[in-house]
Formats: sequence, C-alpha cells, structure tokens
Amino acid sequence: MTENAQISALSRTPAGPDSAARFILDPADTSAIEAYLVLHAPGDTEAAQQAGALIDHILTRYHQVHMEDFPQAIALARKVEAVHVADAECPDGLADHLALMADELAGHQRKEEMALFPMMRHGGGPMVRIAIARMQAEHRDVVEQLTRLAVITKDFTPPQEACRTWRALDQLCRKIDRELREHMRLEDAILFPHFAGAL
Ligand SMILES: [Fe+2]
Ligand SMILES: [Fe+2]
Repeated sequence: MTENAQISALSRTPAGPDSAARFILDPADTSAIEAYLVLHAPGDTEAAQQAGALIDHILTRYHQVHMEDFPQAIALARKVEAVHVADAECPDGLADHLALMADELAGHQRKEEMALFPMMRHGGGPMVRIAIARMQAEHRDVVEQLTRLAVITKDFTPPQEACRTWRALDQLCRKIDRELREHMRLEDAILFPHFAGAL
C-alpha cells in the first residue's frame, strides 16, 4: 500500500476510543497536540491520525453544537425583543444579528467540512494555504460579530429585573461567544499552522 493510500485509509477510519485516548482534548490542555503537530510534517502517518482526530473533535464539539445553539438563541431573542420592546434595556436587533452570524457561520463551516478538512485528511496539498487564508479572514469577521454581540447584550449581562427567558438568552449568548472563540483558537493556533507550510 502506498503512503497516500495508507493516509487515505486512516482518514476513513472513524475516531475510536484509541485515537481519542492519544489526544488530551480538554481545551485547557491542547499544548500536547499543538507540540506534536508543530513538530511533525503533515505527510507523517501518525500526524495524519492526530490531525484527523482533532478535526473530528472540532466537528462534533463545535460545528454541530453551534448549529444547535444558534436557532435556540435566535428564538429566545425574538421572544425577549417582542415582550420587552418598550424596555430601554431591550437588546434591540439581537435576533437579527444572531441570524446573520448563524447564516455566515453555516457557510464558513460548510467550506471547512466540504473542502479544507478533506484536503487536510489527505495530508494537505497545493490549495491548502489558500483555503486556510480564506478561513482565517472569515474568523476575523466572526471576531467582529462577537464584539457586536457583546455590545448588544451589554457583555451578556441582563438587567436586574430581567425575566428567566432574558437571563437564559444572555447565558446562551455568553456560551456561544466562549465556544466560538475556543473553536477558532483550535483551528488558528493548532490545526492551520500544521498545514500552512504543506505545499
Ligand atoms: Fe471550524
Ligand atoms: Fe473556522
């Protein structure tokens, strides 16, 4: 079997308990993964396995979870904006802003899932740097959107008299902010640099 065929076979193998155990995927301790991927070339069989497991983690822990959280946050925001329209503290425009973020994020994640991640699972390639640069530019847009989200929600802090729905909304927006930032950190600081030099 050629090396490419081996990498291809590895990429088709779903991440099992063994590959999960090789990684310490607690976001607080990703330095081991980072050190490994920085020190090993993308063509290396073990590195392909490690990168594949990191991609699996990003997909299940972040891509899927964001797509569940956003519709819930949009529904809560529509409710709060409708009920508290006369309240000076009402987070005007929050539902529309969340809807825009969800729409753009869905497109961004689709590009990673359909183009970039499959390229990476096959060891990189000449197009990988271009795709990474595009994803990094989109991440900068997400950071701007998160800044706006914090402004609209007053740093995710409901007023003292806020109802339970409003509190749940701010809590969910805070979770989205934290998890989107961690998701992008895993890509920008660990996954992308591993492949950025692979031509
Ligand atoms: Fe992603
Ligand atoms: Fe991304």
